[in-house]
This record gives sequence, C-alpha cells and structure tokens, in this order.
Amino acid sequence: MTTAKRDRPSKRQLGQFITPESVAGQMLADIELTADTRILEPSLGDGAFILPLVRRLVALHTGSPAERLSKVLADNLHGVELDHKLHARCLQRVAAEFGNLPEKHNLVHADFFHHEFEASWRWGPDGLDDRLTFDLVVGNPPFGGTFDASIEDELDRDYGERFGHKIKKETYAFFIVKCVERLNRDGRLLFICSDSLLTIPTMKGLRVFLMNEGQVRVRRLPEFSDETTYPMVVLDFRRNGRSEAVIRDGERISRATVEMSENKSWGMSEDLRPAFAGPTIGNFMVGTSGMTIGKNKYFVRKIVNGSILEPYRFEFHEEPITLEGELARARLGKLSLRKQEQIRQQERLGETRRCVRVLPREKPLTIRLPHADYKQYNKSNGKIVHSEPDHVVYWRNAGEAVLTFKKSGNWYLRGVGGQPFFEREGLTWQLIASRLKTRYLPAGCILDSGAPCGFLLPGVPHDELLLVLAWTLSPLCSRILKSVINHTMNIQSKDFERLPYPYWVNPEAKEEAIRRMRDLIDHARNGEPFSFDSPEIITLGKAFDFHT
Ligand SMILES: C[S@@+](CC[C@H](N)C(=O)[O-])C[C@H]1O[C@@H](n2cnc3c(N)ncnc32)[C@H](O)[C@@H]1O
Repeated sequence: MTTAKRDRPSKRQLGQFITPESVAGQMLADIELTADTRILEPSLGDGAFILPLVRRLVALHTGSPAERLSKVLADNLHGVELDHKLHARCLQRVAAEFGNLPEKHNLVHADFFHHEFEASWRWGPDGLDDRLTFDLVVGNPPFGGTFDASIEDELDRDYGERFGHKIKKETYAFFIVKCVERLNRDGRLLFICSDSLLTIPTMKGLRVFLMNEGQVRVRRLPEFSDETTYPMVVLDFRRNGRSEAVIRDGERISRATVEMSENKSWGMSEDLRPAFAGPTIGNFMVGTSGMTIGKNKYFVRKIVNGSILEPYRFEFHEEPITLEGELARARLGKLSLRKQEQIRQQERLGETRRCVRVLPREKPLTIRLPHADYKQYNKSNGKIVHSEPDHVVYWRNAGEAVLTFKKSGNWYLRGVGGQPFFEREGLTWQLIASRLKTRYLPAGCILDSGAPCGFLLPGVPHDELLLVLAWTLSPLCSRILKSVINHTMNIQSKDFERLPYPYWVNPEAKEEAIRRMRDLIDHARNGEPFSFDSPEIITLGKAFDFHT
C-alpha cells in the first residue's frame, strides 16, 4: 500500500454513512424556516440535508434565481465537510439543481473542529465572542470516526468534560457538544446518531450535558440505510435551559427517574423506579470478564464421552529479546522512546524471554478425564441454570503454557482477565446475547472471555448467589438490563454489577426463590434442560415482580 493511500482517511475513519433522502426529508418535514433562519450542517457529506434545505430556503427569498441562491448560501446555510470528494459532490449537486454557485458561500471544505464561522464581536456568556451561532443545526455527525491526531488533546481539553462529567472522546459526542454550544437560545438541533446515546454508561456525560442545556426528544429510527445495520436514533433537541424530563419514543421520563439510574439512562421508565431505589448487585457480588487465550485451538479441548483428544505437545524455550520483535508485538507497532531504549539495552545484554512451542503429535493422544494437566474451561453457551462444562484447557503447572503463550504474544494478549477468580464458585452468562442467560458456575473452572462471571463479595452469605442467579433469569431483570443499563448485545461485568438487587422481595418469597433455584440446579445437574419457556423458570421469575 502506498503511504498516500495509507494516510488517506477511510470511509470508516470518517464515520461516513450517508443519510437516505427519505430519512432526511422526514426529519426536515416539521421544521419552520424563515428567510432569516441561520442553519448549520457540520458534516454535510454530499448534501443529504443541504439540498432539501436549499429547495425550501430559495422559495423564502425574492429576486432572480441567482440572487436567491446567493442569499441562501451567504446568510442561511452554513456547512462543513472534511472529505473533499463529498464536499465537491455536494457543491456540484447544488449547482446542477440551482445554477452556478455564488462566489461567496458558506459550504466549506474543512475539519469541523478546526473551523469556526465568524460573526462580529459581541459579549457572550464566556466574555467577548465572535463565533457565529445558529437557530438550527441539522445533520448526521460521524459515528466512530477518528480525530485529527494533532489536535486530539486540545479537543479533549475543549470538549472532554461538561457539568463535571466526562464526555466520551467519540466523534458524534464531540460534534453534539460543539453544535449545542453554537445554538442560539431556543435554537434546535436535529441529529441522526447512534442509539448508544440512549443507555451506554460511557455516554452518561453527554446525556447529562443535553438535559442541562435543554429539552431532549429522542426517537428510534426503525430503519436507516443499507450502509449500516447499526441502530440509529433521531435526537431532537431545543436549547432552552435545564429540562425536567426527556421524551423517548413519545414517552415522558422525568429527570428524577433518569437520575435514579447510575448511568442516567434514557431507557428508564416510570414503572421501573422501585427497582432503582435500593442497592445494586454490585453491593453483593463482583463481576469479571474471563481471559482471551488468543489461540484456543492450541490449548482448549472439547470433552467427548469423558475424554479428549490432544493433538499437540508443548515445549518451552528461550528467545532473544529484540527491538524488532517487540515492535511487531506492540500496539500499532509503536513503543515509547524510553521503552525502545530499554529494549535495546536488553538486546545488547543478550536477554531472553521464555516462549512456548506448540508441536503437533504424530497421532493425537486420547486422555481420560479428570486429568491433573487439564482444568474445566468455562466457555460461553446459551444455556441457563446450569450446564456441565464441555471443554477443558491444558493447565499443567498452573497454566504455564497458556500464560507463557499470552505473555510472549501480541500486546492485547498480555493481561489475564479474571485470573484472581479462576476456580471459584459463582455464576456466569453469555457475553453477547439478547438477554441475560445466567447459569451456575461450579468451583474449579478457568474462565473464558466469552462468558463473564459474577462472584460473591467476601462475607456475603452463599444463598445470595442463588438469589441473584434466580433474579437474573427473570424477565424483569432482563428488561432492566436491556432497556436501562445497556441495550447493546454486549453484557459486560460492569453492567451486571449495575443491575438492581431485588431488595423488594419479602423474606419468605426470597427463601422460596433460593430453594427453587437450588432445586433447579440439582435437576439441571442430572441432565434436565431448562429454557425461558420452562414452567419452573416462569414461576421463579414471578417472585421478582414488584407487587409480589
Ligand atoms: C454520517 S456521515 C453524514 C453525511 C451527511 N451529513 C449525510 O447525512 O448524508 C458523516 C460525515 O462527516 C464527515 N466528517 C467526518 N469527520 C469530520 C470532521 N471532523 N469535520 C467535518 N466533517 C467530518 C464525513 O466525511 C461524512 O461525510
């Protein structure tokens, strides 16, 4: 690949998902425009919003077609686009439909974070200010894009915190902050953005910022475009000062309700308030991810009829430490100068690192389990209540081969997720799932990253493990997880800890739920399968309804 090509930002780096005409049309349908409305499209692409806006604005002016277009592009519409091809295409499209562009217009090719439209000096909230402000901001800011590395730190200083909360360094979050702060009082912002805005903990600061700056209405878009399957929302915001509620998909959620959830989630609902008035699971249990081996094929074996087939043997050896080798394993192939110097020194001294060699056997060895060199491996599966571990991991000498493989591998393999919890009793669930699929985790397992786990905090009675397991299998718990805590497919250990603890269940019902859960695990251990449709699971779930 040529350097020029490598340096050119890709479609993905620019967060380019062009808005279909129909979606832009719907969003603009109810906005009111006058000949004086000043509008900003901060990432205009090839003009999905610009063209319909020009169509409406030219009709509000008088004069020849050229004069009208000139007024629209000088006084009404302001736009920025970083990709010169898209910017040029937008200008061409405007010219093709409305005639030659006037010499002076405000559709600029620039980085929005480098660019400021200027106004005459005036006294603003932070002192003298000459930045132009707008009545309306519309668009679809880049999502998951990258920032200009030369100003990343500066941007973090400028936009990284509001109202004492962190604003995640994500393109759409910083676009929103900058645009809201360029809105006039009562100005409106209409943006398509990722639905991660609704619940995910890292967007908490942005949600707080928006609620403190004005009135939020947000609605999920049933369909966006073929370019991405990622769910999108329309954020419809009015800058009229701190608001007392958020309107999500037409439902009013009071600020007090939103604030009951730790992540200030817009997925909250009034009927869920009781769940958030007490402790969280994190007060009783700790969640953890498991480890990523990097090459399961080398070390993890499927159990078939109580035996495994071992196709490899493992040998340890020393390898010289070299700067070249370390750079190849480092993140983005980069190491600090200090680190490089340290490695050069190690290289000069002839230092070595312990490595493992994985050698195929001529004929796979059949090994009957249990075996001292293998431990049960908690791989993810979609089962609930309990499932006998169906994999083992080669764990001779406390996992020496796996841990050496990770330590001498790429940078992202170095940490060992969940290591302090290896072999402890707890519960576990499938990381990527549409609902919480929890099951009992017997003692003795090594933990895989596909199945995060929860363990009782010191001093918490053992029965609480069974209660939490029963609670996490209930429909109410899954609803809270997926609508309030984090609606994405990923169920991280922190999400588990943030779940409410079912303090509202009375002592008799609690005891009964624990007894039933113990029973279910025993049955599952004897081979009885359970699903969310099993009558026993449905009955168990009812114990956690607020009215019971
Ligand atoms: C999601 S697309 C939307 C484009 C257009 N607004 C639409 O709705 O079709 C985001 C656009 O932002 C542009 N972009 C990315 N980073 C930018 C930046 N720092 N300044 C200005 N534009 C940027 C991308 O090139 C892309 O065209």
